[in-house]
Amino acid sequence: MSQQLIFTDSPALELDRIAGDISSTGRIFILTDDHTASLVLPRLAAESCVARQAAVITIPSGDVNKSLDSLARIWDGLVEGGATRRSLMINLGGGMVTDIGGFAASTFKRGIRFVNMPTTLLAAVDASVGGKTGINFHGLKNEIGVFSQADAVIISTVFFDTLPVEELLSGYGEMLKHGLLESLDAFRKLMAYDITARDMKALLPILEDNVGVKRRVVEEDPTEKGLRKALNLGHTPGHAFESWAMHRRQPIPHGYAVAFGVFVDMILSHMLYGFDSGVLQQYAVTLRNLYGTLPITCDDYDALIDYMRHDKKNVSGADINFSLLASPGHIRLDSIVPEEQIRQALDIFRDLVQ
Ligand code: GLY
Repeated sequence: MSQQLIFTDSPALELDRIAGDISSTGRIFILTDDHTASLVLPRLAAESCVARQAAVITIPSGDVNKSLDSLARIWDGLVEGGATRRSLMINLGGGMVTDIGGFAASTFKRGIRFVNMPTTLLAAVDASVGGKTGINFHGLKNEIGVFSQADAVIISTVFFDTLPVEELLSGYGEMLKHGLLESLDAFRKLMAYDITARDMKALLPILEDNVGVKRRVVEEDPTEKGLRKALNLGHTPGHAFESWAMHRRQPIPHGYAVAFGVFVDMILSHMLYGFDSGVLQQYAVTLRNLYGTLPITCDDYDALIDYMRHDKKNVSGADINFSLLASPGHIRLDSIVPEEQIRQALDIFRDLVQ
């Protein structure tokens, strides 16, 4: 991955330095959404010359706006602002902005350079790193897109101090997943860190280690032919929980769904590969304390299994594919699990977290 990951207490200084390194001649654009435009951009512009001089393109916030309409709006903004192939785009926002901004930049004039500045913990730990870009299309998430690495990602926890605790917990769900993929030691250290205490200074080095897990996986397998599937740990059941909650009109944040999904995957890992039940019990306590419960009943199993079967990671319509673990740090990709075992795992899930 030829991308710089910068972890810093001074995002404005880093932005000015990086923008100078990448583009001393082309015009600089900042893409942001209306929410970030009012909450974060003024703080950045107060300290960054680049942010004050850049042309700002603002799109409406929210995943529903990761759309063809917003994409056209970004391209319009680039054309109107006189963008050339030497221009640079700074994507300032959550995962929605870094996804669509990366795609808009990668396709404009066959590709201009871009830098991601994630403003949510979830985007810092996941979407802003690793080169997945794209938009939703005809109701399907991330249906159109390309793998395209940002030239740099500037990660700073100073942007997170205004985030609601739900947002921090959502990012922490993906961090727990990375900890498990790394080692028992990394996972235990992470569980011992109290994200709800909102200590942003302490978070920065933890985040650096944690994002390092994703960086190493993506370096080895940028286009998800093999190892990158490890990052799907928790996501087969997690996406099903997300769709189930959406269907009940009580949506849950992505990272909450992942945190619950990781628990189902741990249970399956125990059933299939003997994953340590002590770690599983310890995680159940953390899960209940931080994320509460998920009120599924046995009447929901058919729908949940249906959502899992239709997950786009499955190549055949019949099998349900999971990324599991023999133990923390020891990954078992492409685990096909029979429906009966998924039902048993959901029973155990309800026993332990409800
Ligand atoms: N969100 C998982 C990945 O980037 O591959």
